[in-house]
Amino acid sequence: MHLKSPWLTRPSPSPPRRSIAGITAPRAVRRASAKKSASKAFSARAASVSSGVSLSSFTAPSKAAAKAQARALRTAVFAADKPDRSGADAKDAGKGQKVMVIGGDGYCGWATALHLSNRGYEVAIVDNMCRRTFDDQLGFNSLTPIKGIHERVRKWEEVSGNKIELFVGDICDYEFLSAAFEAFEPTSAVHFGEQRSAPYSMMDRTRAVFTQTNNVMGSINLMYAIKEYAPECHLIKLGTMGEYGTPNIDIEEGYITIEHNGRTDTLPYPKQGNSFYHLSKCHDSANMLMCTKTWKLRTTDLNQGVVYGVATEETMMDPALINRLDYDAVFGTALNRFCIQAAVGHPMTVYGKGGQTRGFLDIRDTVRCIQIACDNPADPGEMRVYNQFTEQFSVNELAALITEAGKKIGLDPKVITVPNPRTELEEHYYNAKNSKLQDLGLEPHLMSDALLDSLLNIIVEYKDNVDQRLILPGVNWTESASVSKTVAKVAAK
Ligand SMILES: NC(=O)c1ccc[n+]([C@@H]2O[C@H](COP(=O)([O-])OP(=O)(O)OC[C@H]3O[C@@H](n4cnc5c(N)ncnc54)[C@H](O)[C@@H]3O)[C@@H](O)[C@H]2O)c1
Repeated sequence: MHLKSPWLTRPSPSPPRRSIAGITAPRAVRRASAKKSASKAFSARAASVSSGVSLSSFTAPSKAAAKAQARALRTAVFAADKPDRSGADAKDAGKGQKVMVIGGDGYCGWATALHLSNRGYEVAIVDNMCRRTFDDQLGFNSLTPIKGIHERVRKWEEVSGNKIELFVGDICDYEFLSAAFEAFEPTSAVHFGEQRSAPYSMMDRTRAVFTQTNNVMGSINLMYAIKEYAPECHLIKLGTMGEYGTPNIDIEEGYITIEHNGRTDTLPYPKQGNSFYHLSKCHDSANMLMCTKTWKLRTTDLNQGVVYGVATEETMMDPALINRLDYDAVFGTALNRFCIQAAVGHPMTVYGKGGQTRGFLDIRDTVRCIQIACDNPADPGEMRVYNQFTEQFSVNELAALITEAGKKIGLDPKVITVPNPRTELEEHYYNAKNSKLQDLGLEPHLMSDALLDSLLNIIVEYKDNVDQRLILPGVNWTESASVSKTVAKVAAK
């Protein structure tokens, strides 16, 4: 198969222009600041819950049996010793909390906004729609037919009876952001609003600069807005597991205690992002820690793994609420992209040796992690760091899981190896800790066959929308250049 990615022939990189965007839905009457909801009474942990898995059954299992047993044990451990979050799904679980979801038109943000709104949190979405502009510029599209943001929030109010406020604008525009803060007075600000693709950030110099400017400046503005307009507001900022890179030691949750020359200290865990995107997140984390300490902000940095899945309870309530699902080689994340490839009969494109191991989580867990973070605000001057993923897989393991699940629904998934366009280790040690969110009550959806079936089935429904030319990798880390060089290269072809 030899396909040329058509978007590579579109050299114009001009990212969205920054303009003073209006607030489309200003609040007429400013309300008095809502008090943070009374601290959630997590009942005493059920320490007596048995894991139900006998350790004696773990003697010399076969590889497959060992994996099944490890999964069963993880499930049992997840179920044991948890705070009682049985009220978390109640319609008034978030009463009194006002959550500003920045990037609320995007993949994680839209699902989160609806999840919180459905549970009684007062929600406002802030977004400048630049993600939609990237698609327009590059000729991409979501596999699922997503509606415009105004139609989405109108439909949500019709379906649920809950209003979501909408502020359309760029958080790099401080005038806009501060007006949104003054109008909404959030108790939590969930920050998804960044350029989030590593390949996009490595396409050329302009996009590299755009990614770091957009992400780092947006986060700095947000912290100033909190300081000036809502100092009690809890900042919940999305980082990525990619900030840690792939060190040859265990990855801790944010901080590591080091003994050096007879002295000991607990320090931020070393960061080594391997794209301009990942590095923008590292810079964000460093800026956040400084602002948290200096201004006594309440902050939580969520180092999220790769998110997969498209269905959440709320996004499936009406076709007009469906979430976006990206499959192109720039914005499509590994599992979503592989499932789409399998559904349309395109071989799954494993980059290089396929031993690259990462943390993954279901989008239904992303929304629950954010709810947990909202319900557990950091103290003033404290920056909490959680590793937000539920399972680790190598790329080869993902491909094997999808092959197995695909066969069950009549597909015949195949795997091909393509040269790795990224600069990364293809075989490495990887063991990241992820217990803090589970300690606060997260009960993960595991990447079971049933889940793959349900993701695959939704994809099969929309497979006619797939443009196979968008699937192959087109951004090479070592070839990233200035725009003039890229234009010259494309012209020479
Ligand atoms: N999707 C994943 O697998 C994944 C994994 C790890 C971390 N994350 C992080 O989670 C966050 C959300 O990811 P996503 O997949 O939903 O991305 P997305 O691109 O679908 O959504 C991001 C949204 O933010 C908006 N936005 C970007 N810059 C903005 C600005 N300056 N002002 C206002 N709005 C702006 C975009 O228009 C878009 O709607 C990102 O910060 C990303 O780095 C995502």
